[in-house]
Amino acid sequence: MKILVGGGSGFIGRHLRRLAEGQGHEVVNITRKSTNPNDLTWTLLERYGLPPGVDGVVNLAGKNIMTPTRWTADFKKALIDSRVNTTRILVESVNSAKVKPSVFIGCSAVGYYGTEDRGSAVDEDSRQCRSLSLICVSSGRQLPRLVTLTCAVS
Ligand SMILES: NC(=O)c1ccc[n+]([C@@H]2O[C@H](COP(=O)([O-])OP(=O)(O)OC[C@H]3O[C@@H](n4cnc5c(N)ncnc54)[C@H](OP(=O)(O)O)[C@@H]3O)[C@@H](O)[C@H]2O)c1
Repeated sequence: MKILVGGGSGFIGRHLRRLAEGQGHEVVNITRKSTNPNDLTWTLLERYGLPPGVDGVVNLAGKNIMTPTRWTADFKKALIDSRVNTTRILVESVNSAKVKPSVFIGCSAVGYYGTEDRGSAVDEDSRQCRSLSLICVSSGRQLPRLVTLTCAVS
């Protein structure tokens, strides 16, 4: 498979790439500033669309929530914008590709349930729309705009 990984240079992305490449898959990292000729930048992706032959897309890109700073309105906006914008670029690229990948995975949503209420059970009905949940919901809202994929999860 040929897999595009947004934020493939990050903590999870580096492990995912090593695992996928070890299994014989081709992985293309999407980054803000390429230092590797095999990388793709967000600017080029937005301008020219998906490279040919992409089977799967994973988005791990986003400003790090562990950045040592106060959670000001500007910081929260940067957390959300970095995830929404990268997801939007990927969704639009997939939608305009002649041959579409069969799977799209967004990773931000693993933080949806937050860390509150540690003592109580958490399930699909739990709604904790505080900052972390809001980040997930914001980028997840981009996914229903995807057309004709076999599978899209966030
Ligand atoms: N690690 C965890 O334990 C954990 C837990 C829950 C959820 N998550 C979520 O899973 C995703 C991946 O996590 P991670 O730990 O691998 O993250 P990470 O190490 O911070 O890497 C994310 C990547 O996103 C890109 N990025 C950073 N700031 C950006 C910005 N302002 N705009 C666009 N891209 C930006 C960077 O790539 P370039 O510099 O190459 O552009 C970076 O390598 C994130 O959404 C994170 O919130 C992670």
